[in-house]
Amino acid sequence: MDVLRDYEDDSFDLIITSPPYADSRDKTYGGIKPDEYVDWFLPRAAEMLRVLKPTGTFILNIKEKVVQGERHTYVLELILALRKQGWLWTEEFIWHKKNCYPGKWPNRFRDAWERCLQFNKHKKFKMLQDEVRVPMGEWATARLKSLGKNDVVRFDSQVGSGFGKNIANWVNRELAYPTNVLHLATETGNKRHSAAFPSALPEWFIKLFTEPNDWVLDPFAGSGTTCEVAQKLHRNSVGIEILPAYCELSRVRLREGTMLLFDEGLTHDASDNSRNNGVYRAEYSGIPSP
Ligand SMILES: C[S@@+](CC[C@H](N)C(=O)[O-])C[C@H]1O[C@@H](n2cnc3c(N)ncnc32)[C@H](O)[C@@H]1O
Repeated sequence: MDVLRDYEDDSFDLIITSPPYADSRDKTYGGIKPDEYVDWFLPRAAEMLRVLKPTGTFILNIKEKVVQGERHTYVLELILALRKQGWLWTEEFIWHKKNCYPGKWPNRFRDAWERCLQFNKHKKFKMLQDEVRVPMGEWATARLKSLGKNDVVRFDSQVGSGFGKNIANWVNRELAYPTNVLHLATETGNKRHSAAFPSALPEWFIKLFTEPNDWVLDPFAGSGTTCEVAQKLHRNSVGIEILPAYCELSRVRLREGTMLLFDEGLTHDASDNSRNNGVYRAEYSGIPSP
């Protein structure tokens, strides 16, 4: 909250973060009680709202925990509170964890997904859908082989929803738009942080919601996954992290990336100082930018 106060209004194109989850992992960096989570989050979200550009997007990776046998409602309450604060709750993506740990509980199955909530300031926001297209895959092979008469003309929904499809449009196309379910494995090899998300998660959203040279913010940066991915994708990034050890980890990680960016074969226009083209610059709480 303190660090963001130094940033001007409308500074960032994308805010993507996985905040400390309520009460969990309190041995590593202090948990917030589920009942107090909304009150804790709101003042921080107010700063995020201020520093996000009008065309920008905020992605919040979060999952409610089970408290006394019930799913706690703090995430649902947070969504309602953020809407009252001025955010639009535009979409909810599901991160399906393809390789979650096996386990058995008496009254539930293992948790294999987390929410990635999308919030915006306005209905019109920057979204580069073509950047995240996926191969048509087996669905296309099976479905398009046997086109019926309903498929070759626009087929309005039988339930009268007004939505229609024209499957024939997709014949001979190799790429399709993805769904709002992301099937990504957790990175079990990450010894650096107990709650790091996989690089593929920020990568997908950075490609979807920003262009090269845009500005990405992760206000709970942890081991610096977001900043590292932003750097690789030639976006500027700012990571804020409260624990000095994690800041240092991120800095090491990003320094390695900077070396790679200056490897032979890569070009960089050093005369263009107006933009941070391909060069990492991040500012951490209390630590000057490199
Ligand atoms: C879920 S982790 C983020 C992990 C990160 N996505 C990664 O891939 O490494 C949340 C982080 O928020 C940090 N944190 C907790 N309270 C904070 C605060 N008030 N300001 C900044 N960072 C905070 C924690 O130290 C922790 O590293």
